[in-house]
Amino acid sequence: MTNAIGTSTARVDGIAKVTGTAQYAYEHPFTDPVYLHPVQATVARGAVDTFRSDKAESVDGVLAVLSPWNAPRLADVSDPELSLLQGPEVRFRGQIIGAVIATTPEIARHAQSLVEVEYTTDDHDTVLRADHPDRYPEDDPQTIGDDVDEKLSSAQLVIDQRYSTPEEHNTPMEPHTAVALWDPAEQHLTLTTATQGPHSVVDTLAPLLGLEPQQLRVVSPHVGGGFGSKAAPHGHDLVAALGALALPGRAVKYAVTRQQGFVFVGYRSPTRQHLRLGARCDGTLTAIDHESFSQVSPAGTFSESASSISASMYAADARRLVHHLVPLDVPPPHWMRAPGEAPGMFALEVAMDELAVAAGIDPVELRIRNDPDRDPATGNRWTSRRLVECLHEGARQFGWRDRDPHPGIRRDGEWLIGTGMASATYPHVMSPGTKVTIRHDGGGRYTVRTGAADIGTGAWTTLTLISADALRVSRERVTMEIGDSSLPTATVAGGSSGTTSWGSAIVATAEAFRRQHGDDPEAGAQTTGGVSEDPLAEGYTAASFGAHFVEVRVHPGTGEVRVPRMRGVFSIGRVINPRTVRSQLLGGMVMGLSMALHEKSVRDPRFGHVVTQDLATYHVPVNADIEDMDASWLDETDELATPMGSRGAGEIGIVGSAAAIANAVYHATGTRVRDLPITPPALVRD
Ligand code: MOS
Repeated sequence: MTNAIGTSTARVDGIAKVTGTAQYAYEHPFTDPVYLHPVQATVARGAVDTFRSDKAESVDGVLAVLSPWNAPRLADVSDPELSLLQGPEVRFRGQIIGAVIATTPEIARHAQSLVEVEYTTDDHDTVLRADHPDRYPEDDPQTIGDDVDEKLSSAQLVIDQRYSTPEEHNTPMEPHTAVALWDPAEQHLTLTTATQGPHSVVDTLAPLLGLEPQQLRVVSPHVGGGFGSKAAPHGHDLVAALGALALPGRAVKYAVTRQQGFVFVGYRSPTRQHLRLGARCDGTLTAIDHESFSQVSPAGTFSESASSISASMYAADARRLVHHLVPLDVPPPHWMRAPGEAPGMFALEVAMDELAVAAGIDPVELRIRNDPDRDPATGNRWTSRRLVECLHEGARQFGWRDRDPHPGIRRDGEWLIGTGMASATYPHVMSPGTKVTIRHDGGGRYTVRTGAADIGTGAWTTLTLISADALRVSRERVTMEIGDSSLPTATVAGGSSGTTSWGSAIVATAEAFRRQHGDDPEAGAQTTGGVSEDPLAEGYTAASFGAHFVEVRVHPGTGEVRVPRMRGVFSIGRVINPRTVRSQLLGGMVMGLSMALHEKSVRDPRFGHVVTQDLATYHVPVNADIEDMDASWLDETDELATPMGSRGAGEIGIVGSAAAIANAVYHATGTRVRDLPITPPALVRD
């Protein structure tokens, strides 16, 4: 028995990455590639009337101009986000309405500016309001237990507040890129694209393009960050594919610009939230009423359902959760790390801090008092719920015990000092369906193949460790092959489900391999296996948990917030690779700090586009913003959740961390900020 799992291991792809030989989507070599630049709508709602491309076509080096009328036709136009260049409709400003393909990217970009478009326009509306007349509930309210209104009216303590989180955009270091090549002789399309799931791209795009799955190969061995924005194909993939169909035999390359990354590759919807907590004087919750609102696009259905987080987090006699959608003339929102959970937990955990203040109870103690024995949403047992231990361990590491609860009294020179905390949770998600092929290469060496994606998470390494233990060999004897739809089918890297889903399939396949070939297999022995259903037993809920502790300094003259110290303690089951898990957790916490203090996409309601469309005006933290930050975890194994004993860890770091900062800002200043991001004007004092 080996124990590769749990050994801190450098990335197996690390040398390739630091030497620049790891190929990202745009870097795969193709002979005589050509370059695409899209034409984007300059109105927020309406239709293209005329599309004059003669000037663009006359530019030297321009090979093709695709319009809403001359572009290759799709076989299926039921997905409005991806039904591009199929007709005149404009559903949001910046929508792709044409494309120029040329011999250089510069020529394509210039020629695109020469296309003359006239529109018919309709009135548009891009402003999210909780009282928007067109709002509608996504589902019937989820009510659990007693009547919420009755419990609230009889509660000894009530917190009744509104919270908001802004629109946010993923800004991965590797922008979205796609290279498409149509081989007319073989009737086969190759798409190298930065994606979190090669097979999900095939599943989505092949039917639209009228191709059989085996006519489309998606290649994506290395991805420079996705956070959800690369979890599904977006317009750039589709338009690159259309370009390739229009120019058979030529590799059509399209690198989405940073500005375009603020338009059509998904984003986090802003939220508006209304929380009402009812409690007894001792802080025991009697009612949780969580109502949330997010926007939805005419070009998509994605919903940032923030209220769901309140289903299972705390015990309460009565509970009502409802999420409303507001249809606006905006691009489709999409996944951004912990979609729903991150904004929802901001509101819930700030409200809990407000309740702690109202009850005069330490905020850590308040959470312990409301920790449920069973999953309140279902009555299920927990496979493992160790939030209370995370709270105790975090408080110990941070030095929470001697905290004076009174706000606005600690000073260091001119700076106000405060501390705050919040809980974290993220559901355990297992996506069945991954297939794995294991081949014995001889001499105790194995090749393990599956179409998983490493989006910077460390999956190349994690899956190597899981394979080594499952095959009972050292990790040096395992060669992983991932990131290609020509490998066995794998589910998408999303919902913190990658390691869970692919790892479970690897373990099952290794067992099948041994049954089939024995303990001393011949060279070339091969088995394909997988997992077709979630092994979680009926009557159980699995989730990851955590606790954030934060110190902030606020300058009352400038309103500046600094975060000198941040500690996260997590319960995520058995840790496969401590080195990359720590990075995942820290990355989530950095993203939570960023959510608290920096990120906000400003959409101009007059024109309907995001004006903060670069990294100068869309703020993300730099090294100087991150000071003493650390993440650790409980020593545990959750064999009810996965055969590795692990649970999801990719997203929980962001959940609750923004609330912990907001709560620390309150403790420092006495000012309760309920709208993110927290910016200086909210905190400046005369
Ligand atoms: Mo993550 S938002 O599930 O890719």
